[in-house]
Amino acid sequence: MRLDILTIFPEMFEGAFSLSIIKRAQTKGLVDIHIANIRDYATNKHKRVDDYPYGGGSGMVMMIEPIALCIEHLQSKTSYDEIIFMSPDGKLLDQKAANNLSTCRNLMILCGHYKGIDERIREKYITREISIGNYVLSGGELAAAVLTDSIIRLIPGVLNDETSALSDSFQDDMISAPVYTRPADYKGMKVPEILLSGNDKEIYQWRQNKALERTKARRPDLFIED
Ligand code: ADE
Repeated sequence: MRLDILTIFPEMFEGAFSLSIIKRAQTKGLVDIHIANIRDYATNKHKRVDDYPYGGGSGMVMMIEPIALCIEHLQSKTSYDEIIFMSPDGKLLDQKAANNLSTCRNLMILCGHYKGIDERIREKYITREISIGNYVLSGGELAAAVLTDSIIRLIPGVLNDETSALSDSFQDDMISAPVYTRPADYKGMKVPEILLSGNDKEIYQWRQNKALERTKARRPDLFIED
């Protein structure tokens, strides 16, 4: 997968993408991430990317030209499955959307800032708007990093044990069963006996029951009884 992220703060992705799973996916050649600095496409003398809103009001608006030039430059070389805008107005990100996007060849993600982006960008280029939650962040960068992580870990070959993405919380509309590691007894707090039994069938059943129990108790909204 090729992933282009458009931002005025490229540095915000340095840490997030240089460690752990996303780093490994890049090293293995399973994802090719490019960060484009929108400011590089500003044609005015001071490399401005924002301006006052027409009609007045507070806050600045990201200008159409630098974003349009950046998108069109990338589009001249690559055909994108989706051009995503990170926005609190977008559709809430869920596991289904992450699964769906993980099958794409080329994705572009645009990060907004200030009061918003010129509406004409949304009308002309954006194919999908995604929110990561019902709260407002200072910009789309952290949201884009969250979206990227949720997608990349689903690309076949990224996780060592492919089944581990399949057993993630939400993958089957259930949250995961609790997990434990050594020691089996920490200051009297014991790991459930069944997990030490070596009986795979019973362990599987125990995990299914726990997942069901937890989903009902914590996230009844996810729970659909057959
Ligand atoms: N930009 C600002 N807030 C956001 C949110 N909640 N989700 C996605 N992008 C955003």
